[in-house]
Amino acid sequence: MDLQIAPASRLRGTVAAPPDKSISHRAAILGAMASEPVRITGYLDAEDTSSTLAAVAALGALVDRRAGDIVVRGTGLREAREPGEPIDVGNAGTLMRLLPGWLAGQEGRSFTLDGDASIRRRPVDRIAEPLRQMGADVQATEGRFPPFTVRGARLRSISYEMPVASAQVKSCVLIAGLAAEDPTTVGELHASRDHTERMLARLGAAVHRFGRHVTVTPVDELVGGDLHVPGDPSSAAFWLAAGAIVPGADIRVTGVGTNWTRIGFVRVLERMGADVRGDLEEHPGDVVVADEPVSDLEIRPAPLQGTVVEGDEIPLAIDELPLVGLVGCFAEGETVVRGAAELRVKESDRIAAVVDGLNALGGSAEALPDGFVVRGTGGLRGGAIDAGGDHRTAMLGAIAGLASREGVRVIGMEAAAVSYPGFTDDLARLQA
Ligand code: S3P
Repeated sequence: MDLQIAPASRLRGTVAAPPDKSISHRAAILGAMASEPVRITGYLDAEDTSSTLAAVAALGALVDRRAGDIVVRGTGLREAREPGEPIDVGNAGTLMRLLPGWLAGQEGRSFTLDGDASIRRRPVDRIAEPLRQMGADVQATEGRFPPFTVRGARLRSISYEMPVASAQVKSCVLIAGLAAEDPTTVGELHASRDHTERMLARLGAAVHRFGRHVTVTPVDELVGGDLHVPGDPSSAAFWLAAGAIVPGADIRVTGVGTNWTRIGFVRVLERMGADVRGDLEEHPGDVVVADEPVSDLEIRPAPLQGTVVEGDEIPLAIDELPLVGLVGCFAEGETVVRGAAELRVKESDRIAAVVDGLNALGGSAEALPDGFVVRGTGGLRGGAIDAGGDHRTAMLGAIAGLASREGVRVIGMEAAAVSYPGFTDDLARLQA
């Protein structure tokens, strides 16, 4: 589906951030591993997170949707059922990389995971390596792609230094560590989102952080309870970007998760000069807290300057880096993102997507091996952008259209349903 987005003459009002995709995946997976029912309020109803519910159901968990809540009755830590056919992860990289952490501990049982064309281009060697060290057998296509098969085993504990900064890999190893013989430690180069650590703590597991290392102690079982999914800062980010670059915009996004490991983009916007208001008080710390902080956020346009995003900041803004490029088109001077080669193996090659996309709309962007440089040229003319099946590129195209001089045609807008099915409705609400 193509969507023509006209320059916004008006963009004002309030939207509720849709539920967090990362946290929804984790709630369904950990709920399926628990021995008592887990009630999830605010579970994201989108394509990716539906894949996760279907996957845990195929493994024997009972999923009950009631009045907006979801109750997952899990199989217990070591009792996942072997499904008769491959588990279809759809487009969901997080599902594909977290679930094997659980499957690795199912002694003697085999599980094959596969997904769509984009998933088949995304590497799984990053999880296969630590899971093999723990004793599971993992066989992947060409050694590193889906479809791949995990054969569960009695797991050894490991101390694993991740070669890539990845919350998915960290989460996979921590989840496997629950069923290992002794405590398991994961070391990361830069802090990444810590939703798994928080949720494990809430479900009764002992998780400790020491600087860049996290240790989980094995458990006999995860207890049940209630899990609440806050609004997704990565979805809210589209409105924050719009609020920063659409002339006269005045936007409030409610219920946004403000976990410090997720708000790197807000910090970048503030540094560029944007006027963002909200409770952004959570700061890095060593104690693993079980709760996720939430705030309403407000944003209005202000003169913007280019900036450099690199190092520690990259994982904290990883999914919003394309939006940094978009905002950079409206800033004075250069905006640089580097140290973000991971962008090349997301739902699409997001370095190519952002550079080709912005240039097609009249911007001035250049690819680096591990990022991009955008020169501010006083805004964007407009034109057409192809989402290439990537939900975040589709929504970026729409925001670019609102802020452009001539409008933008987004080719493949339906991709937004992967994380934000209500995106075009919320857009209409802000324009009404
Ligand atoms: C995610 C972690 C990030 C992010 C992805 C979701 C998660 O991926 O890009 O959209 O839920 O853990 P990496 O761990 O590969 O960086």
